[in-house]
Amino acid sequence: MRKGYFLTVEGCEGAGKTSVIERMSEYLSSLGHEIVTSREPGGIDIAEQIRAIILDKSNTKMEGRTEALLYAAARRQHFVEKIQPSLAEGKVFICDRFIDSSLAYQGYARELGIDEVLTINQFAIEDVFPDLTIYLDVAPEEGLRRIHARSDREINRLDLESLSFHQKVREGYLILADRFADRIVSIDANGSMDEVFERVKGGLDRFLKQHI
Ligand code: TYD
Repeated sequence: MRKGYFLTVEGCEGAGKTSVIERMSEYLSSLGHEIVTSREPGGIDIAEQIRAIILDKSNTKMEGRTEALLYAAARRQHFVEKIQPSLAEGKVFICDRFIDSSLAYQGYARELGIDEVLTINQFAIEDVFPDLTIYLDVAPEEGLRRIHARSDREINRLDLESLSFHQKVREGYLILADRFADRIVSIDANGSMDEVFERVKGGLDRFLKQHI
C-alpha cells in the first residue's frame, strides 16, 4: 500500500535540479516529513551499473531503443528496491529525474515517440506516476553554460549531444508539462537559487495544501 508522496524533479542539463532537491529536502523535513532522495538512472547498485553502461562516452554505437530500454530497466530495479518500499513506509521520496526524462530525451528528442516510450515505462513502473513533478525550465544554452562552468561535474555521453538535441529535450518537456498538467509544475529556473526556490516552494505549498 502506498502512503508516502512521490516527488520528482526534471529539467535539462544544468537546470539546477541538485540544489533544488537539497532545498526541497530541508524544507519538507522542517515540516516534519521523512525524506528519501535518489536519482535516475541509478539510486541502487544494479541501476548504477546500468547507468555506467548508458553514460559511458565510449558507447557511441548505442542505438536509441537500446538506450530507452536500459533506462527503463534501471528504473524498474530502482522502483522495486527503493521507491516502492519508501512510499509504503510513508516517506516523501524525491527523485532527481524519472519517467519524464525518458519521455523528453528518448521519446521526443531521439524521436522514438512519447507514447512508445511511455508504454515500455508503464511496464516498468506499473502506473505509479509521481504525485508532483517540478520541471525546471531553462534555455539549454544557459544550462550548458552552467555545467561547463562547474569543474566537479563530469561530462557524460548525453552532454556531448548537440545544442539542437538539448533544445528538442526542452521542447519535449514543454509538451509533457502541457499533457500532464495535473502533476507537472513548470518553474522558471532563471535567476539565483533563492529566487528559483521561492518559485518551487510556491508549487510545493500548493501541492501540500491539496494533499495534506
Ligand atoms: P546525469 O549525470 O545524472 O545528468 P544530470 O545532472 O543532468 O541529471 O546524467 C543523466 C543523463 O541521462 C542526462 O543527460 C539525462 C539522461 N536521461 C535520459 O536520457 N533518460 C532518462 O530516462 C534519464 C533518467 C536520464
